[in-house]
Amino acid sequence: VKTIKVNLIQNSYEIKVGSGFLNLVGDELVKLGMKGKVIVITNPKVNHLWGEHLNISLRAAGLHASLIEVPDGEEYKSLEQAGKLYEQLSEIRAERVTPVLALGGGVIGDLAGFAAATYMRGVPLVQIPTTLLAQVDSSTGGKVAVNHGRLKNIIGTFYQPKLVIADTGTLRTLAPVEFLNGLAEVIKHGVILDRDLFQKLERGIQQLKSLDEGFLEDVIYRSICIKAEIVEKDERDTGLRNVLNYGHTVGHAIETVSDFKIKHGNAVAIGIVAAGRISQKMGILPQSARERIELMLQKAGLPVKFSDLDVMRIMDMMGYDKKKIDGKLRFVLLRNIGEAFISDEVSPKLIEQVLRELI
Ligand code: NAD
Ligand code: GLY
Repeated sequence: VKTIKVNLIQNSYEIKVGSGFLNLVGDELVKLGMKGKVIVITNPKVNHLWGEHLNISLRAAGLHASLIEVPDGEEYKSLEQAGKLYEQLSEIRAERVTPVLALGGGVIGDLAGFAAATYMRGVPLVQIPTTLLAQVDSSTGGKVAVNHGRLKNIIGTFYQPKLVIADTGTLRTLAPVEFLNGLAEVIKHGVILDRDLFQKLERGIQQLKSLDEGFLEDVIYRSICIKAEIVEKDERDTGLRNVLNYGHTVGHAIETVSDFKIKHGNAVAIGIVAAGRISQKMGILPQSARERIELMLQKAGLPVKFSDLDVMRIMDMMGYDKKKIDGKLRFVLLRNIGEAFISDEVSPKLIEQVLRELI
């Protein structure tokens, strides 16, 4: 088991990464001083696969778990569902000290996290991410939110968990398409800030895809370290944390214009390609680095092009991006593998040109 400490001015916490760690959750909670009642928020699929493992460990540590299930799906990351959670929490008589455990992917983490942040002005939150994406990305950093109307993650706050437990063993039951979704973020972490991680992925992508336990644990650990480091430096996302959005400006737009038929990870992969090409055309990124990144994504089984989408709609969609500052598009560019930076100098014309190359 590996531990990462997220050092913040207030609310520092640990992230534990390792296979089989679900069995130790109860002990870890007791170590943090938690006792009595805890609430597990999950969905039926994850509960069926992993709920009992968690429950056994909670019981063994003398904790009493109440279960709340939310239907599976992004559409349930809503204010309406948060409202139902508040009702269920009050029916169970959750108090201000009653911990909420979010067992699942990013949808459960964001929704349960949002409910935990707001119910009684905040109850202790423990993230137990069970998708690759949630382990390397959404469970660290305290962003919790729900969607509203057509707008994703538009209502939310920053609310750091007390603890994150990433049991890499839970990824064994994950659908390959969901694994790829998270892999795009892992590759992104290497691309933006960790050349060593990128090289490791280049050499071991097959090991990773075959879920080699040691390799997987190491890669997830290093990926979380990168996210944690950024969050420590810019918890509230006022500058540096933006680099985590590498590939996401174009990625989000493609995802939305495709009516979510292109999955998030796939859209981010195309966004990573676009950002690399823009960086190269601006004379910042060497061609060889740009090609290595594209090859890496292809070897991983992620797309590097798209079809059947209107480029102008993608451009329009980027104009509405909530990261837009003073009418200019804030874009994350790359100097080299492992060296991302934020720029306000990208011209829309260049973005359009690159998008047309990728059809
Ligand atoms: P998800 O939570 O929908 O999970 C994907 C699917 O995998 C679901 O069907 C889920 O039931 C299933 N699943 C979960 N764990 C499983 C397991 N171990 N075995 C088998 N199936 C399992 O999707 P996701 O990709 O984990 O998360 C996406 C969400 O995360 C989006 O809503 C996105 O906005 C959010 N997100 C948040 C942040 C943040 O910083 N808070 C960052 C990135 C993404
Ligand atoms: N997913 C981007 C962030 O946490 O800032």
